[in-house]
Amino acid sequence: MATALSVNLNKIALIRNSREGNYPDVLEHAKVCLARGANGITVHPRPDQRHIRPEDVRQLAALLAPLAEREFNIEGNPFAPPRGNYPGLLSLAEETRPDQCTLVPDSDNQLTSDHGFDLTRSAEQLAPMIARLQSQGIRVSLFMDPLPEQIRLAKAVGADRIELYTGPYAAAWGGDQLEQIFQQHYRAAELAGELGLGVNAGHDLNLVNLAKYATVPGLLEVSIGHALTVDAIAMGLGNAVQAYKKVLADAAN
Ligand code: PXP
Repeated sequence: MATALSVNLNKIALIRNSREGNYPDVLEHAKVCLARGANGITVHPRPDQRHIRPEDVRQLAALLAPLAEREFNIEGNPFAPPRGNYPGLLSLAEETRPDQCTLVPDSDNQLTSDHGFDLTRSAEQLAPMIARLQSQGIRVSLFMDPLPEQIRLAKAVGADRIELYTGPYAAAWGGDQLEQIFQQHYRAAELAGELGLGVNAGHDLNLVNLAKYATVPGLLEVSIGHALTVDAIAMGLGNAVQAYKKVLADAAN
């Protein structure tokens, strides 16, 4: 089966937030993505509300809840405390009941997420959070680097899936290190599969580097935002979604 495409709508919200009002409308963009074959929608609310706001999460949850075949994935830092009308990731997830919550160790001063969890440090704090989300029927994925010892800890702490951080893979594209980094991801995904963890991936994937990455064994889902939004400027959002879906379908054949 082809890897599922979850479209990350952060960048649409970022453009909206640069002005007053609701233009572009995140919900309408989600509908276009779904109409053109996206398997799901991803958002990454942050306490600073730089792009996705809590109200976006609520509206998207209401849009996606009746659509059995489409997934809603909320990602974010579970340790970041509530701030203003941002209630905190776990509260927001419990309120909106996404299919999946991807826990990410990011912070306000990061431009974007740029590393996976170090579970030798945070497993103890994460374990009850993972259990709390799972008790609400929410699948939990942990944002991880492709390190075997860390992936074993992800299993031990109770995660359902891992999301492999693909930034270094994308950065190595066209360089000498690419094959080595790709093999690291390949083996990490194999190990996750052997342990019974599902495998997602994301960050800096694009129409050029996705086909190779999609051959990683058992890859269930990629979440893509930045490059897809840039492609949408050139080709239109619906066409961009279809172009990414085609890469994933071809890679599955
Ligand atoms: N996965 C995680 C955890 C992220 O933080 C992001 C960026 O919000 C992505 C995937 C998607 O990355 P990109 O926007 O580069 O496609």
